[in-house]
Amino acid sequence: MDVQVDRRTFLAAVGVGAIEAMSPEDRAEELEHYMMHELDESVTPKLDGEESALIDLEQQAARPPRGTGNLFMPREDAFEPMPRNPTLEDFFRLRFAPATHVLQSAQHALETGQPESTIIACLLHDVVLNLIKVDHGWWGAQLVEPYVDEKVTWGIRYHAALRFYPDDSVGYEYPELYNRIFGEDYVPEPYIREQYDFARQHPWYMEARMITVNDTYGFQEGVRPELDQFIDIIGRNFKQPKEGLGYDNSPVAHMWRTIASPNKPL
Ligand SMILES: [Fe+2]
Ligand SMILES: [Fe+2]
Repeated sequence: MDVQVDRRTFLAAVGVGAIEAMSPEDRAEELEHYMMHELDESVTPKLDGEESALIDLEQQAARPPRGTGNLFMPREDAFEPMPRNPTLEDFFRLRFAPATHVLQSAQHALETGQPESTIIACLLHDVVLNLIKVDHGWWGAQLVEPYVDEKVTWGIRYHAALRFYPDDSVGYEYPELYNRIFGEDYVPEPYIREQYDFARQHPWYMEARMITVNDTYGFQEGVRPELDQFIDIIGRNFKQPKEGLGYDNSPVAHMWRTIASPNKPL
C-alpha cells in the first residue's frame, strides 16, 4: 500500500502558517519529503511512546530551515564511523539508510526490465536529500557527476522539474495528491517551466522522465528492498574512486566528506 497522506496530518506536521507562506513548489517539495519520512518510519523499528514524543518535542523546538538535509536534523544517536576509503555502499549503509524511497524506485526499474542506466539513476536520484533539500535535482546531479554516465547525471538534474508535468506516453500523471493538497490552480514557477521545456525537447528527455515514473512506485508502505540486489549494477555503473568517496580530489569530494562528517564545525 502506498504511503497515505492525510491533508490535515500533513498540515499539522508542517504548520498551517508555514504552508501558507510557501510557494507551491516549496509545498510540493515539503510534501515529498514528508512522504519519504513517513515511508522510512514505516520500515524502522518504533521507539516507545515517551521516547518518540520527546524527540518530536525537541525537533519542533529547534527546527532548522526546511531546505536542510536529513543528516543535519536534530538526532539522538551518534553517526557511525565511516571506513577509510568509503564506497557508495558504505554511504548507503551508514549515512543514507534506510533509503526506502530510492531503493523502492530502483527496484521497480529493475523488476520491469529497464536499462541499468535508469536503475542506477533511480537508486541515486534523491540521496542528496541527506545533504540538502533545496533544488535537489541539481545538487543530486552534481554529487554523482564524476562517477556515472553523463546521461545519468542529466536525468537526475531534470527529474525534479519533470515531476510537475504529465506525460501520457509513459503513463506519468500529474500527482493527484498535488491537486488535493495544493489546489488545482497551481502553476510551477517560470524557472521550473523553463527547465521542463528545455528537457522536453532534449534527446535525453527519457532519462529524466523514467526517474519520475519509477519515483511514483517508491512510496510502498512497509516494503524495504535490499541494497544487495544492486551491488553488481553499482559496480558496472558507478566508478568508485580507489581513494574512497570524499578523498579523490574531485570537484565534489567535499560534498561526500560533508555527508560522512556532518558534525565537523569547520
Ligand atoms: Fe526527487
Ligand atoms: Fe523521488
